[in-house]
Amino acid sequence: MADVDSRAGHGYATKEIFAYVNGVHAPHHEGLRFAFEAPERFGLPAIQVGPSEGKLLTLLVRLGGVKRAVEIGTLAGYSAIRIAEALPPDGHLLSLEYEPKHAEVARQSLTNAGMGGRVTVLEGAAIDTLPTLVSRGPFDAVFLDADKKSYDLYGRWAAANLRSGGLLLADNVYLFGRLLDESEESAAMRRFHEEAARAFDSVCVPTPDGLLLGIRR
Ligand code: SAH
Ligand code: DHB
Ligand code: MG
Repeated sequence: MADVDSRAGHGYATKEIFAYVNGVHAPHHEGLRFAFEAPERFGLPAIQVGPSEGKLLTLLVRLGGVKRAVEIGTLAGYSAIRIAEALPPDGHLLSLEYEPKHAEVARQSLTNAGMGGRVTVLEGAAIDTLPTLVSRGPFDAVFLDADKKSYDLYGRWAAANLRSGGLLLADNVYLFGRLLDESEESAAMRRFHEEAARAFDSVCVPTPDGLLLGIRR
């Protein structure tokens, strides 16, 4: 039965349905298009969030009245633009990126989208950069989208540095379908889920690879 299947995780979306709803609800203006196409154009991995997940970030940031945000994993700046667009003029996003080449492309995307003044791309491994941000918090939102093996660490940092009512967002929390495997990476992602559920009022939004949403208790 269709409803039983969908409640158990079966999806109805086809590529064609995705393209249609993305075009209707999450279209790309010129700045978003440049950033979305930048990975392929500049030889970066094309692992940015999809248009609908990006637009979901925009709406959640807007709903949450987010002013100060942190993103871990900038890539070419697509999700950063999606987040920054919902910030007030005096809001700011700090986006952390390990690869200098990615950071350089992202700065170009952000400037091109008119978001250069609202986003700072910080180069380095997040594990080293995050401690330097503590004094700039507490934050209103943290978005995780970098190395999956460290989500448990990043989740702890977010719990410690978000205000009460602040938003935790995390992409790829089904771990490409490997969430229940026996690997260390899978165990770390499960720790992330379980610790997040304690510190946050949380849900795993069933996007193609799972998007965790939590409100800090
Ligand atoms: N959020 C982006 C996609 C991020 S892809 C978007 O949707 O547009 C993941 C990024 O995390 C890559 O650019 C990768 O270089 C970066 N990354 C991987 N490990 C990292 C680490 N330890 N610290 C900071 N960035 C890291
Ligand atoms: C990969 C990383 C991501 O954040 C993503 O959304 C998809 C793929 C990756 O590392 O392959
Ligand atoms: Mg991702």
